[in-house]
Amino acid sequence: MVINAPSLANIPLTEFTVQLEELYEGGVRFFHVDLMDGHYVPNLCLPMNCVKDLKAKYPDCTVEVHLMVDNPSFYIPKMKEQGADYVSFHCDSTSFVRRTLFEISEAGMKAGIVLNPSQSVDVIRPYAQYLDYIVFMSVEPGFAGQKFLEGSMERLRDLALLRRELGLNFQIIVDGGVHYGIIEECVKNGADALVTNVYTIFNQPEGITAACRRFTETMKNVVCEI
Ligand code: DX5
Ligand code: ZN
Repeated sequence: MVINAPSLANIPLTEFTVQLEELYEGGVRFFHVDLMDGHYVPNLCLPMNCVKDLKAKYPDCTVEVHLMVDNPSFYIPKMKEQGADYVSFHCDSTSFVRRTLFEISEAGMKAGIVLNPSQSVDVIRPYAQYLDYIVFMSVEPGFAGQKFLEGSMERLRDLALLRRELGLNFQIIVDGGVHYGIIEECVKNGADALVTNVYTIFNQPEGITAACRRFTETMKNVVCEI
């Protein structure tokens, strides 16, 4: 069953605790947390210490941190301190991808890299064996609420085929513009988790909890076909 991984960047700050409860009630146990530094991407987002707060309130939930920062190494001890479970960084944000992956793994967290829409999926070949997961961007990083980019489905399929070719089992998390028109196809093409958003679970007429249940119901029998 594909993981419902809501992007918390989609919650208005004034609604934060209320909407977290609604997500939890709807069965969410995996949070996607976007951290930005205003350099790697021209935006700021959630504060680092929200990771600690999330783990304190929801110890049974996985907190997956998507770093959109220059010098990701700098943030790894901080993420460990905060209690993050998964940490990913953009593979073009450092010259030392393998070292950075090892730093994350050695700190006891799941290590991932993020692939931008303009990067070939082949860039992962030299370090694919060291990855626990990949955040596959289907929008340019930096802002919530963008549209799923044309060509993303084909790239996702290429990534899943590469995973199969290499005999690996890293997870694939699809991030950006995920909507009902494509969610089933994403899973058939290799997605293990979908970053959910205003098109799927937030801003839905039935409310967040019911929208999460609808998502689970829709996806319960959809499996990878690669
Ligand atoms: C974009 C972020 C995404 C984003 C996803 O930089 O990485 O996680 O918040 O939300 P949507 O799908 O609304 O763009
Ligand atoms: Zn993200």
